[in-house]
Amino acid sequence: MKLRLRINGKAMEMETRADMRLLDILRSMEDDEGTALKGTKEGCGEGECGACSVFLNGKLVNSCLIPAPQAQDAHIETIEGIGATEAGKLLIQSLTDAHGVQCGFCTPGFVMAAINLLRVESDPDEQAIRTALAGNLCRCTGYDMIVDGVQLAAKAAAGKEGFTW
Ligand code: FES
Ligand code: FES
Repeated sequence: MKLRLRINGKAMEMETRADMRLLDILRSMEDDEGTALKGTKEGCGEGECGACSVFLNGKLVNSCLIPAPQAQDAHIETIEGIGATEAGKLLIQSLTDAHGVQCGFCTPGFVMAAINLLRVESDPDEQAIRTALAGNLCRCTGYDMIVDGVQLAAKAAAGKEGFTW
């Protein structure tokens, strides 16, 4: 099938099989610098770990569960796109400062889930953060430091004029 979609704002068109997953399509693509988009990770492959999270038309989804036809004409944001924004950079720095990044495998998924929360609730309490991140698994941190990182990011953003998540 011919698949047309926008990835991080760039229109793309490709031949793909209808049984390919969006996760596989993203990880086999390259950006303008010829760097493969490998930031979206495969953990479980069955919708349980959140490592493959992306935004599809603004909605947080597990890309391992999205068959290619479902991405037709969609706008996809990956960690490469989000990570290049002011919001993404602030969040990643805050997670790092709070020691919420250890091996880093889960981090792209946590970043996407946290941004998804912060876009609608810029000053979330701890429980709201834990609920928003409940679909993401981390083997390293015990989660508390990730929650701290999101709180740190929310505080830092509140002090920046004109900042949007
Ligand atoms: S790889 Fe998609 S949810 Fe785990
Ligand atoms: S930092 Fe290693 S899995 Fe989360």
